Amino acid sequence: MIGLYQVLNPEELFAPRYCLTRVIYYNLQPRARSRWKDFSIPNFQNLSVTQRQCIQSSTWKSTAMVLWGPVLGVLLVAIMGYLYLLGLLRQRRPQEPPLDKGSIPWLGHAMSFRKNMFEFLKHMRAKHGDVFTVQLGGQYFTFVMDPLSFGPILKDAQRKLDFVKYAEKLVLKVFGYHSVQGDHRMIHSASTKHLMGDGLEDLNKVMLDSLSLVILGPTGRSPDTSCWHEDGLFHFCYNVLFKAGYLSLFGYTKDKEQDLLQAEELFAQFRKFDRLFPRFVYSLLGPREWLEVGRLQRLFHKTLSVKHNLEKDGMSNWISYMLQFLREQGVAPAMQDKFNFMMLWASQGNTGPTSFWALLFLLKHPEALQAVREEAVQVLGEAGLEARQSLNFEISAMHRTPVLDSVMEETLRLGAAPTLLRVVHGDHILKMANGQEYLLRNGDIVALFPYLSVHMDPDIHPEPTAFKYDRFLNPNGSRKVDFYKAGKKIHHYTMPWGSGVSICPGRFMALSEMKLFVLLMVTHFDLELMDPDTPVPPVDPQRWGFGTTQPSHDVRFRYRLRPTV
Ligand code: HEM
Repeated sequence: MIGLYQVLNPEELFAPRYCLTRVIYYNLQPRARSRWKDFSIPNFQNLSVTQRQCIQSSTWKSTAMVLWGPVLGVLLVAIMGYLYLLGLLRQRRPQEPPLDKGSIPWLGHAMSFRKNMFEFLKHMRAKHGDVFTVQLGGQYFTFVMDPLSFGPILKDAQRKLDFVKYAEKLVLKVFGYHSVQGDHRMIHSASTKHLMGDGLEDLNKVMLDSLSLVILGPTGRSPDTSCWHEDGLFHFCYNVLFKAGYLSLFGYTKDKEQDLLQAEELFAQFRKFDRLFPRFVYSLLGPREWLEVGRLQRLFHKTLSVKHNLEKDGMSNWISYMLQFLREQGVAPAMQDKFNFMMLWASQGNTGPTSFWALLFLLKHPEALQAVREEAVQVLGEAGLEARQSLNFEISAMHRTPVLDSVMEETLRLGAAPTLLRVVHGDHILKMANGQEYLLRNGDIVALFPYLSVHMDPDIHPEPTAFKYDRFLNPNGSRKVDFYKAGKKIHHYTMPWGSGVSICPGRFMALSEMKLFVLLMVTHFDLELMDPDTPVPPVDPQRWGFGTTQPSHDVRFRYRLRPTV
C-alpha cells in the first residue's frame, strides 16, 4: 500500500488506485491512521480551493468506480455464465453438426419438441439434413437420422457414449430409485436367464394360465363368456395384458379372485400414472398433478413392497433373482420397493398398447386376420383350438408362426417409437456412412428416433404408413430379414426394442406374451369393430419417443367366446 502511494504522480491522483488508498486511509482505526498519515498527499493544503474540490470530487467518483469495479466484474462474469448456460453464446464449431438453438433462450425448441416430437424432427431434418444439434431446455441434443450410420453409435467401441448415467437420473426422478453399482448389467443378465430360452418356456405357461384367468375369470368358461361383450379395444387389451403380466411376474396369493380385483385396481392407478408420464418426464405438470404423481408413486411402492411380496406364491424367477441381487448389495427394502415399481413400469407399459395396435390392424385388414387364423389351424390343428374350461393350446407351436411373427413385426414398426439417448463423454468424432465426420461435443446427448429415420423411410419400407401383414415374409413364407437403403443392406431395419447396451431385455418375453394374447383372441373369440368403417385413430402426439405409442382415442369393439372353432 505504501509503495503504491509513493509511486503515484500527479496525473495518477485521479486514478482508482489513489482513491482506494484514501478510502482505506479514512476507514482505518485512529491509531493506525496516525501511523499512516505521513503518507498523505504532499502539499494538499497548499493547493487552490478549486484544485482541492476537483481532487475531492473526482476522488469520490473514482472511489465509487473502484468499489463497483470488482462487483461489476463479478456481475459480468455471472451474466456471461448465465448466458452461456442459456445457450445464447454457444456457437457452432468447425466440424460440428448444424446448430439450431431455437428462438427462446435456454428453452430453445423444447415447446415444439414436447408438443409433437415426430413433426418437429421431420421439420428439422428437412431444414438441416441427417445430422443436427438442437437445444431443448438448456441441453443440446444431436439427432442422427441416417440409419446406415447408427453402427458406431450403438456399438460405441471407444466407450464415449454413455447410457447408464442418463438412465440413472431418469429413474431416480420417475420411480425414486437410486441405482447401485452393477444393477444395469444385473437386469440384463437376469433377463437372459429368465426371460429367454428355457426360463421363458416356463414363464409362457404361467402367462397362458394368467391370460385365461383374466379373460374368462376365476370360474373359467361360462355361458356368460359366450355372449357378446362390448368394450374399448385399447382399454380391453391394456387391461388384460397388464393384469396377466403383473400376476405372472409378481405372483399370486392363494385367493385368485382377490388377486384379480387387486390387479384391476392396480391397473386403474397405473393408467393414471401412465397418462401423466410424458408431461412428468418433461417437468410440465401443474401443482395438483405433482401431488397426484407423488401419491401414485407412494401407492406403487406400497403395493409392490417386498414385505407384501413375501405373502405371495410363485413370484417369477426374474423378479426374485433381481431382488436377491439388491439384497446382497445391502439395498434397503424401501429402495427395493421402488425397484419393483420401475420393473412393473418397464414390463407393462408397452405390451398392452402394442397388442391393441395388432388387434386393430387385424380387424381393419380381414385378409390378414384370415391368414393368421389359417396359420393357427395349421400349427395347432382344429382340436388344439377348442376352448375348454380354460383357454389353452400347445405353446411350442408359437415357434412355427411366421405369419403372426410378420404381423407383430409390422405392428411394432408402425406402433413403437422409442428414443435412444447417449451422453457424450469427451469430444468425439462421429464417422457417418458417407465418410463425413462430425464433432460431437462433450456433455451433449446423441439421440436416435428410429420411428422417423427407419420405420417411416419409404426407401427401406415402401408405403411406410400402410399396414402390410406380410411385409416381413419372403415369397416362400419364411421370415424376411433383407432390407435395403440406398442399395445397401441395412442392419437396423426396425428398432422397436432400442439397440446396443440399452436394448429391451424383455423383448422375447414381450413378443411371446403378445403373440399368446393375439392367438387366443383370434382363435377362441369372435371379434368385431362396432363401426367397421371407423378409421385407425391418430397417435396421441404426446407419446412420441416413449416406447409404444397410444391412440388419441379408443375404438369400440365387441367380442364373444366362439361356441366351436
Ligand atoms: C411391446 C413391448 C415392449 C417394448 C416395445 C419395449 C421397448 C423397450 C425399449 C425401446 C427399451 C430401451 C429404452 C432405452 O433405450 O432407453 C426397453 C427397456 C427395457 N425393457 Fe422393454 N419393451 C417391451 C416390453 C418389455 C417387457 C415385457 C419387459 C420385461 C418383462 C421389459 C423390460 C425392460 C427393461 C427392464 C428395460 C430397461 C433396460 C435397461 O435399463 O437397459 N420390456 N424396452
